[in-house]
Amino acid sequence: MTPPPTWTRRHILSLADFSREEYNTILQTAASFREILSRPTKKVPALQGQVVANLFFEPSTRTRSSFELAAKRLSADTLNFASSSSSLSKGETILDTAKTYLAMGADIMTIRHKQAGVPQIIAQEMDRLETGVSILNAGDGQHEHPSQALLDLFTLCLLLDNDSPQIESLQGKKVAIVGDILHSRVARSNIWSLTTAGAEVHLAGPPTLLPLEFGSMGKVQLHWHLDPALAKADFVMTLRLQRERMTQHLLPSLREYHQQFGITRDRLQSCHPDVKILHPGPVNRGVELSSELMDDPRLSLISQQVTSGVAVRMALLYLLGTMLDNSMTPTYFVR
Ligand code: CP
Repeated sequence: MTPPPTWTRRHILSLADFSREEYNTILQTAASFREILSRPTKKVPALQGQVVANLFFEPSTRTRSSFELAAKRLSADTLNFASSSSSLSKGETILDTAKTYLAMGADIMTIRHKQAGVPQIIAQEMDRLETGVSILNAGDGQHEHPSQALLDLFTLCLLLDNDSPQIESLQGKKVAIVGDILHSRVARSNIWSLTTAGAEVHLAGPPTLLPLEFGSMGKVQLHWHLDPALAKADFVMTLRLQRERMTQHLLPSLREYHQQFGITRDRLQSCHPDVKILHPGPVNRGVELSSELMDDPRLSLISQQVTSGVAVRMALLYLLGTMLDNSMTPTYFVR
C-alpha cells in the first residue's frame, strides 16, 4: 500500500478546520488498521514504548474502552484515569492532574470532560511547557467529539466503498441527523465532517433542541418536523436525548418525543430503499429509535460504528504518535 501522507497536527480538538486530505489520511490509515485487526495477530509495535493516558472526567463506555484497546493494539502502555476514584475529590485541579500524567511520561492524552474547552486548555498548557504531548478530544461538553464523527465517517465510507474508503464517496448523499442537536457534541463534529464531504446534511428536532443558530454552521438544512428530513435520506443518524444536560423542561414527555421524532420502521418508508441507521450510543431504547430497528442488522450500523471505533482510534493515535517520523511505511502495512 502507499504510505500515509504526512500528518502535521499535534492535537485533535475539533474538526472545524479539517481538510478533505486530512480526512482521507485518517480513512486510509484506519483501513490499514482494519485489515490488521482481521489478522490472527492483531497487535503491531507502532507505539511501543509510548504512553497513552485516557483521562475521562465524565462517564464513557465506548470511547474510553476503544481508545484503550486501540493503544494496546499499537503496543503502547496505557494509563486510565476515572475521576470518581481520583485525587480530584481531594481538590486537585484538572491541569495538575494532566501534569501528573505528564510527569509519568504520557506521550498522548485523550480527554473527556463535561465542560467544553477543557481539552483545548490542557493542549495549550502542554504546548506552553513545550512537552510535545498530543491531546485528543474524547468529547468536551456540548462542543465536539471528533473521534466519534471520524468513526461515523469511516463506517459510512466503508459501506460505500469497502476496498478504499474515501470522503468523496459521500458527495451528494443525504444524511438526516435527528434529535437532541442542541446538546450534541456528536452532531457538531459530524456537521463539520459531512459538509466537508459534500453530503446533503439535514438536521431535524423539536425547536427547543434545534435552535436556528445551527443554520450558521455551514451548508445544512433545519427541520422542526421529521418527514422532510427523512424523505429520500440515504442515512439517518439518531442522537441520544441528553437528559442530564437539560436544565429546563424542553420536551412535553418522552412519549410525545418518540411520537414526533422517534425513528420507526414505518417512518423509514420515505427514505432511500437502502437507508441505514446510525446512533453514537448509548441509546435510550424506544425513545430515539424503536428497539426492533436498533437490533435489525440489515438497517442498523450501530455495531459497525463501535467496531470502526477501534481502527479509527488506532489511526488517530498512530498519526499523532508517529508524526515526527511518518515518512516511513512500517513493514506491517505492506502486504
Ligand atoms: N458515543 C460515545 O461517546 O459513547 P460513550 O459515552 O460510551 O463513550
